[in-house]
Amino acid sequence: MSFQTLFTKMEDHTLIITINRPEKLNALNSQVMQDLDDVFERVYKFPEIKSVILTGAGLKSFVAGADIKEFETLTQEEATALAKKGQSIFAKIENSPKPVIACVNGFALGGGCELAMSCHFIIASDNALFGQPEVNLGIMVGYGGSQRLTQKVGKARAMELIITGNTINAEQALTYGLVNYVVPQTGLIDKAMQILAAAHTKAPMAIANSIKAVNAAWDENQDGYAVEADLFGTCFVTEDCKEGIQAFIEKRKPHFKGH
Ligand code: COA
Repeated sequence: MSFQTLFTKMEDHTLIITINRPEKLNALNSQVMQDLDDVFERVYKFPEIKSVILTGAGLKSFVAGADIKEFETLTQEEATALAKKGQSIFAKIENSPKPVIACVNGFALGGGCELAMSCHFIIASDNALFGQPEVNLGIMVGYGGSQRLTQKVGKARAMELIITGNTINAEQALTYGLVNYVVPQTGLIDKAMQILAAAHTKAPMAIANSIKAVNAAWDENQDGYAVEADLFGTCFVTEDCKEGIQAFIEKRKPHFKGH
């Protein structure tokens, strides 16, 4: 797999995706967005990929936002189209059937914070900094930030962060419930790999269905309880379901095959 702006590496069935523009603090230009779209196409398709870690190159920044230089000449129509495209790429990440962890290794600002929030959860290094500073530029969040930040930290905190453009550090993000763990930068990927190793021992379809059901809780067009009941039912036609239940009865470890 090769991409202009991403470095990818497979390790124990986890695809580690590193956004690789460290000289621009990994800002999301149109090529990075295209590459993210393409790489997640492969995440959906390739069975050997069981999970994903998304991080940024260097020790300073996860992603310092959308590339501001590309905003200079945008018309209203182009800006709306850009936001819609960004939202659809981030929705693809959020709806990935395989777990996706953001390992935030520094600045997660603007589109960087929105990108991290589109992952299933976030682990932050102790130097991480989160914020939506778009208002400093006379613009606003556009890649889903007004929705996902509100879901994750509640209306009052999201409102304050978005209207002031203030940043919060990793410990504050932990208190806000925006991140699951704060670890030293050197231990960031290891912490995510540890969590994913546990997920890899479970049935892939049970995981994919669980992701869908949790995401349905945030979709006002779906009855999350009905979605959950239907998905629960579909687990029962899988070989992995039979294996999991049989293994429990026979007091042994299950061997899931992914079907
Ligand atoms: N878009 C485009 N380029 C960016 C960028 C962005 N969002 N964020 C950083 N860069 C570039 C800088 O222009 C600079 O490039 P240059 O060396 O060619 O001038 C390089 O990355 C390093 O950034 P610099 O500002 O020198 O680093 P710093 O440590 O002094 O400051 C930040 C770091 C994150 C505070 C600062 O870069 C910043 O405020 N970035 C914009 C954050 C933002 O508003 N994001 C939301 C965008 S919608």
